[in-house]
Amino acid sequence: MNDAAIGVFDSGMGGLTCVKELNHLMPNENIIYFGDTARIPYGTRGKETIIKYAEQDIKFIKKHNIKMIIAACGTVSSVLGTSKTSDADIPFTGVLLPTVQAACAKTKNGKIGVIGTNATIKSGAYGKAIRSIRSDVNIVGKSCPLFVPLVENGFIGKDDPVTKLVVERYLEPVKKEGVDTLILGCTHYPILIDAIKEYMGSGVELISSGSETAKYVCAFLTAREMLAERSEQGVNEYYCTDSAEMFAENAESFCGGKLNGLVTRVSMDELAAE
Ligand code: DGL
Repeated sequence: MNDAAIGVFDSGMGGLTCVKELNHLMPNENIIYFGDTARIPYGTRGKETIIKYAEQDIKFIKKHNIKMIIAACGTVSSVLGTSKTSDADIPFTGVLLPTVQAACAKTKNGKIGVIGTNATIKSGAYGKAIRSIRSDVNIVGKSCPLFVPLVENGFIGKDDPVTKLVVERYLEPVKKEGVDTLILGCTHYPILIDAIKEYMGSGVELISSGSETAKYVCAFLTAREMLAERSEQGVNEYYCTDSAEMFAENAESFCGGKLNGLVTRVSMDELAAE
């Protein structure tokens, strides 16, 4: 048993799709969430910058009493790759492995689509992770760089004409290939799930990287007897690098309601301090 918190970070608020599922599966766990809202997006940046930011995010998370770190960001997970699985004493996971395991188990026709940010798709990391499990799968990758700004700006309704148009533009080639499983390889994308589902049709299974990772972490902690011992509800603490008020306000579309914890702003000086 281990009462320390689970540390979760993302470039912004996308990782809240993972937190939502963590809270659902393990309501007694404490969560420390860090969203680098002042520097989002990561997905349009180069590899060195993403690694530098991720290292700072991890260092901040490690200042807290934590028992596991989750990079709830498809971009960071892809750039770091599956090689980063543990960090001396603190277990670490990105979203890649849990997500591709779920997709490989789901596909029937062996055609898996992967959508993500530019950096994620360029890295080819999801494809490599899929092939490490199943070599017989056809993979169709597509970067969808406008999805994150759509989500961040509230264009999330399935009937919103702007959202519909962008979804169709990006997903047309993926749909044409006849995939039966689609990995939402960026933790922001589940917020667009209704629009994506509507376009792809009911025959296509959508795999959310955030919630698959939460399921993986729950199984991981359970197997190692690392779950919290407390019987009362766990506490969520949120940290971000831009306005705390804006974080709490915007978080509502990710949580489906009011944010369940206090938000504190972290200065960039504190984050970058050696
Ligand atoms: N949540 C990030 C991801 O999962 C996307 C946002 C970004 O580009 O930083 O890739």
